[in-house]
Amino acid sequence: MRAMAAVTRFFHPVLRARDLRDRPVQVRLDGERYALWRGADGSLGAVVDRCPHRFAPLSAGEVRSDGRLACPYHGWRFDRDGRGQSPSQPGLSRCDVRAMQAVERYGAIWIADRDVPLDRLPNIERPGFEHAGVFVEQFMCPLHVALDNFSEDEHTPWVHTRLGWLERDTPILDFAAENHDDRTEVRYRAIQRPSQLSRFFGIRPGDHFHNEWVTRFDPVRSEYLISWTDPSGETQRPAQLLAPIFMTPQDAQSTLFVVFMLAKLDAPYLRRLRPLVHRGATALIRREIRDDAVFVPNVADTPFAMKGMRLGRFDKPLIHNHRLLERLYWGESYDEHSARLRERAAGPNQ
Ligand code: FES
Ligand SMILES: [Fe+2]
Repeated sequence: MRAMAAVTRFFHPVLRARDLRDRPVQVRLDGERYALWRGADGSLGAVVDRCPHRFAPLSAGEVRSDGRLACPYHGWRFDRDGRGQSPSQPGLSRCDVRAMQAVERYGAIWIADRDVPLDRLPNIERPGFEHAGVFVEQFMCPLHVALDNFSEDEHTPWVHTRLGWLERDTPILDFAAENHDDRTEVRYRAIQRPSQLSRFFGIRPGDHFHNEWVTRFDPVRSEYLISWTDPSGETQRPAQLLAPIFMTPQDAQSTLFVVFMLAKLDAPYLRRLRPLVHRGATALIRREIRDDAVFVPNVADTPFAMKGMRLGRFDKPLIHNHRLLERLYWGESYDEHSARLRERAAGPNQ
C-alpha cells in the first residue's frame, strides 16, 4: 500500500499577511480548518482549528497577552507548538492540538507541516522584477477545474475583457505547449485587444500580447509572464508583468487563489510612476482573474477524467497537468484523494 501523502508537505499561501491582525483567523487547506494567529511580538501560530476539549473552533477565540491562543468555550490556551492547558484544571494531560509551521513571506501567510524545511517555500523572485502587490480570489470549484482554466488561454476572448485578443483576431498567432516530468510550459501570442489600459503600459494599436507560463506542483501554481511587443516581435514594450498564481485547495468545492504581482518597468516614465503602475498592474490582473472566478462555477462539476470530451490542441496541457496533480501533488489518485476529502468533511469522529 502506498504511504499516505498530505499536501501539507508543501508550503501553501493561505491568507494575505495584512489580513492577520490581533484577532485569530480561520483558513482552510485541503479539507482541514486551521486557526492562525499573531502574537503581540508579531510571531505567528497555526493549529488545527478544533479544540481538543470539545471541538470548539479556536479561531473564534482570542490572543492572550502571553501570545497563546485561548479557546472561546472554556478558555484552554495553546502555544505555537500546540501545547494546551486548561485554566480550571492545570494538571490535566493530553490537551495538545496539532500545530503547523506558519511563515510570513511576500505579503502572505504560508503554512506547512512543522518538519518541512523552510527552503521548500517557493521562491517567486526574478531578476529585474519588483513586487507590485498581492491579492486573493476565491474560486468556487475544485482544484482540478481551477487548474484546467489556468492551463489554456483559448477562453480569453470570451471570458476576459482587457488582456489578450478579440474573437475576430482568433485563430491565435502562436501557441506552444511542452510537457515535462515536473511541469508544463505554455506559450500564447496574439494581437492585443484595444484597451484604455494599453496606453498606460506603452502598448500601441496592433501590438502583440504574449503570455508564457509554467505550472508546477509543489504546491500547485502557474507563473504567468505577460508582455507585449510590436507586431514583428522584435521590440519589447516597456512593461512586463509576472504573476505567480498559487491555487490553494480549500475543500472539494473551493480553491483559494493567492496571486503575487511582480513588474519589470523598462521606461523612466513608468519607473517614476512606480507606485501607481504597481497598483494599476495589480488591479488589472485582479480583474482578469475575477473574470475567471465568475465563470468557473459554470463548469465546477467537470469530471476529473475528462472522458467523452472533445479536447483540442489547446487542451494538451490539461491532460498532463492532471497526471502531475496525482503523481506530484496528491501522491495518490484523484479517486483516493476525493475519498479522503469526503472523510474529512464528515468530521473527526467518522
Ligand atoms: S471546547 Fe475549547 S476549552 Fe472547551
Ligand atoms: Fe482566464
